[in-house]
Amino acid sequence: MSADGMVLITGAGGFIGSHLVERCVAMGMRVRAFVRYVGGGSWGWLDDVPCRNELEVVAGDIRDYDAVLRAARGCGAVFHLAALIGIPYSYVSPLAYVRTNVEGTYNVLQAALECGTGEVLVTSTSETYGNVRTVPIGEGQPPDARSPYAATKVAADQLALSYHRSFGLPVKIVRPFNTYGPRQSARAVIPSIIIQLLAGAREIRLGNLAPTRDLTFVRDTVDGFLAAHDAPGFIGEAVHIGMDEEISVGDLARMIARLMGAEARIVLAPARVRPEEGEVERLRADNRRLKAATGWEPRYDLEAGLRETIDWIRENRHRYRPDRYEV
Ligand SMILES: NC(=O)c1ccc[n+]([C@@H]2O[C@H](COP(=O)([O-])OP(=O)(O)OC[C@H]3O[C@@H](n4cnc5c(N)ncnc54)[C@H](O)[C@@H]3O)[C@@H](O)[C@H]2O)c1
Repeated sequence: MSADGMVLITGAGGFIGSHLVERCVAMGMRVRAFVRYVGGGSWGWLDDVPCRNELEVVAGDIRDYDAVLRAARGCGAVFHLAALIGIPYSYVSPLAYVRTNVEGTYNVLQAALECGTGEVLVTSTSETYGNVRTVPIGEGQPPDARSPYAATKVAADQLALSYHRSFGLPVKIVRPFNTYGPRQSARAVIPSIIIQLLAGAREIRLGNLAPTRDLTFVRDTVDGFLAAHDAPGFIGEAVHIGMDEEISVGDLARMIARLMGAEARIVLAPARVRPEEGEVERLRADNRRLKAATGWEPRYDLEAGLRETIDWIRENRHRYRPDRYEV
């Protein structure tokens, strides 16, 4: 990994973004972190990272072209992670997703073009595949958006590819499957299960239990981003980050309860169930493209990653609200 040039990371105050920032700084890269402007001055998770004085932090809104353009100036590469990511909230506020995920990605691409920034890594998601017929899912499978969130990510991917094909912008689409680990919001299934159990719940309230997911620990996901960035290929292409494994939500809840030494019944919470046509039944990554081109290998199996996540949430439980379910 070259330490030359500044790298711009959007969504830097978020779950994956903050881990990526820390890793880039540890590798000697110069990082400009784009965090969402909020009145209170918070940098999200970057408020807590030990390397916070070794970065340049820019607060702005990804929907604001001027702010993104200013942030992109002088950067040699962009990792674009800023997005609205919750699927349930995309049912109630889809236009916010269009503005943040599609227009926000436009702002990043256009600013990169205008500034002559080098490579732009656009963060996609396995949710773009919807209900595919065959697993593991290869990068060539067509999109099948099942939620406004997924639709905006499909649109952002296509816009990015069009910027490569039309204007020669060096774009890579990095498509993580589900990622978990320290700092993840309780809107995601793993933290939600852990905080319910830490609160002593005798029942774990969940949405559909049968869908399967391919779960990657966040440090492996971040290594995947950096491997994709380093690789000479992938320009104008998508590449998966995933384990090529799958576990159902029900089995996942049972595994977490076992690791925590907890006994609890799993019950269906209607508010957490996705619309029937909106559910994505199976997600499992064909990860051969990334592995073959870069030698990337995950370092955490599910049990090791879950243990670390449980320990971190236990120490940080004051940050979570087990009594609330918010979309
Ligand atoms: N977590 C996963 O399992 C997963 C899986 C696949 C893809 N992804 C993708 O990875 C990226 C990061 O996701 P995450 O899990 O870290 O979520 P996150 O919500 O923690 O991070 C998203 C970041 O985007 C920022 N953001 C949102 N709206 C903004 C705006 N208007 N202006 C500026 N910043 C704004 C948020 O403040 C947040 O820091 C997203 O693009 C997401 O779609 C996540």
